[in-house]
Amino acid sequence: MALIFSDTEYSAHYQKYMLPASEKMVQMMLSYLITKKGKPFELAVDVGCGTGRYTRPVAPHFEKVIGLDISESQLNKARRSTSEKNVLYHTSPAEEMPLKDASVDLVFAGLAAHWFIIDKFMQEAARVLKPGGCLALHAFIPIFEIQYQDVSETLTAIITETMNVLFKYRDKTSDVMNNQYRELFEAVPFADKQSYANIFMGRWKEAYNWAHGPFGANLVLWKRYIDDVLCVWRASEEDLVKFKDYLNTNN
Ligand SMILES: C[S@@+](CC[C@H](N)C(=O)[O-])C[C@H]1O[C@@H](n2cnc3c(N)ncnc32)[C@H](O)[C@@H]1O
Repeated sequence: MALIFSDTEYSAHYQKYMLPASEKMVQMMLSYLITKKGKPFELAVDVGCGTGRYTRPVAPHFEKVIGLDISESQLNKARRSTSEKNVLYHTSPAEEMPLKDASVDLVFAGLAAHWFIIDKFMQEAARVLKPGGCLALHAFIPIFEIQYQDVSETLTAIITETMNVLFKYRDKTSDVMNNQYRELFEAVPFADKQSYANIFMGRWKEAYNWAHGPFGANLVLWKRYIDDVLCVWRASEEDLVKFKDYLNTNN
């Protein structure tokens, strides 16, 4: 497993600073499932659920949701922050899920599938899914664009050059992400499959204006992803929460 996720302090930071789940992503998974299989929605499984970022918003739509992860510290955070009564968390590898054959409506993994042993995970997903059930894998890829006063282009060029050097030493998981999950998509063992990209980009592009907008002064650096933004923030934590709320209400 990725050692980073077994660190209690890392899990605390992950939960505190990772942007909340995107409701649009949840709706995309549900609308795909309703088209392909239809109701009832009995069981969803969040594989590599981490601190439960996507487990919780999926819960109201299913009779039961199970979050699986190999990291106890991630799961501890998830358990403490989940009040939904229909959610259970289990320590389990993605490659060997403690679930019956043909028992799951939706298997999904947010920002996690690039860590899995792909072939084994796909076999497991195919085993546990009901006929017509859906597998949804989503993540973001790092695209670095820096906005800062009138040196945005120079800073972006510097970070691009730096990342190009660092990328030579990246591991397999980064490759899977940078290839936009192509290997994962190709390994999905179902004939009926679809791939989506740039899911929120149209809206995020407005973020270019943040440098001059209400939050611009506090953003030293920001990185835009499909459903997440990472930034270096130089104002109070209270203002950061307001900024997060702004992002969430401006999907
Ligand atoms: C970046 S976190 C994503 C967590 C959560 N899905 C989210 O969207 O915030 C990746 C998670 O995958 C878990 N993970 C990595 N390899 C795994 C495996 N083989 N089986 C189950 N979980 C795994 C890690 O422990 C970590 O919690």
